[in-house]
Amino acid sequence: MSATKPPRRRQGDGTRALSKRLHRLDVLLVCGSGGVGKTSIAAALALDEAMNGRRVCVLTIDPARRLAQAMGLDALDDREREVTLPPGAAPGGSLHGLMLDPKTALDRLVAETVTTTEEQERIYANRVYQQVASSSAGMQEYMALARLFELDRGGRFDLIVVDTPPAAHARELLDSPQRILRFLEGRSLRWFLKPGARMGRVGLRAIGGSNGPILGILSKVTGAEMIRDTTEFFEAMQGIFGSISDRIRVVERMFASPSTGFLSVTSPERESVDQAVTFWELLEERQYCYVGTVVNRVEPEAPPSMATPDELTGIDGIDESLAARISAAQQDHAALAGRDRSRLDELAEATGSALTISVPRLARVVNDLDGLRALAPYLAE
Ligand SMILES: Nc1ncnc2c1ncn2[C@@H]1O[C@H](COP(=O)(O)OP(=O)(O)O)[C@@H](O)[C@H]1O
Ligand SMILES: [Mg+2]
Repeated sequence: MSATKPPRRRQGDGTRALSKRLHRLDVLLVCGSGGVGKTSIAAALALDEAMNGRRVCVLTIDPARRLAQAMGLDALDDREREVTLPPGAAPGGSLHGLMLDPKTALDRLVAETVTTTEEQERIYANRVYQQVASSSAGMQEYMALARLFELDRGGRFDLIVVDTPPAAHARELLDSPQRILRFLEGRSLRWFLKPGARMGRVGLRAIGGSNGPILGILSKVTGAEMIRDTTEFFEAMQGIFGSISDRIRVVERMFASPSTGFLSVTSPERESVDQAVTFWELLEERQYCYVGTVVNRVEPEAPPSMATPDELTGIDGIDESLAARISAAQQDHAALAGRDRSRLDELAEATGSALTISVPRLARVVNDLDGLRALAPYLAE
């Protein structure tokens, strides 16, 4: 950024810029790597929109279960539950939360697609099915997208907020529909479905090279019974794969829709901020709607003037050595706050008209509704 240029306004036009943008959306995908506060920000935004009178559902598959605690969602059963809103909600607003369990979600899909109980039981008992259903790799994205499709189609919500699975790179989320489709429609699958196909070691090796979520698991299994289970699994799942494919295709179109928005959550660290910029570039390229970046746990601004060690010394119980330490700590905070401020300016500069929203590191825990409400003013600014 050139020194003469005034810093871009960081928080849009000041008054509820984020909420204004969210108002035009049906779906908000909250993206970012793990540990940055993604689940908290997603929940806080969902709660805020509900308080503003919208019917909101927040979908999370976060294994940390923070959101579950915050919203009283103790059962991990893949059903949405209504959260009691704190006093002061605008009329018509409601909040539902859903903790997605990929295993239950897949079972539900089987129950919906396969009509006879006998056939359903056969699939549930299949060991390959059990492994696939309980594996987290790929399955989370898989099921989150299928569930998003169902929630959206249901038409019961004005806004669905998706706390996406933590991805090393946000690109993974964008590419997941294609990855899933490639797997479902891929050659290896057709090989399995060839009439009378008998899988031997050669077959296992043939699929072992792929990094698809299910193929990775299959490459580890050996033994005649497993081979039988595998062939059976693919036969039994044929219809289910078809309906997953249909859903994933709709979700892929949903990604491109102007009423679907993406929001990054990052820490103020260099790497995290750079990832957000890369993600923004990717979305620009695809002409998807990048709403903005929430930089979370920003060092709070230091007061304009800090007390010197001399001024501190002599205040009740503060001796010279304590005064020196307090002063040094204040300077550390000020330096960090300065670093974070310039990071935010850089980010705002790099991401065009997208919002850059700064949320400070709060001194309180944010794992309950009051905590989520405490985040709201920063998100609203
Ligand atoms: N702005 C904040 N100030 C203080 N604590 C925060 C803030 N944002 C998140 N946290 C806390 O950090 C932890 C991780 O947050 P979480 O939302 O679960 O992260 P993620 O989903 O990215 O893994 C939680 O204990 C949460 O309460
Ligand atoms: Mg999380």
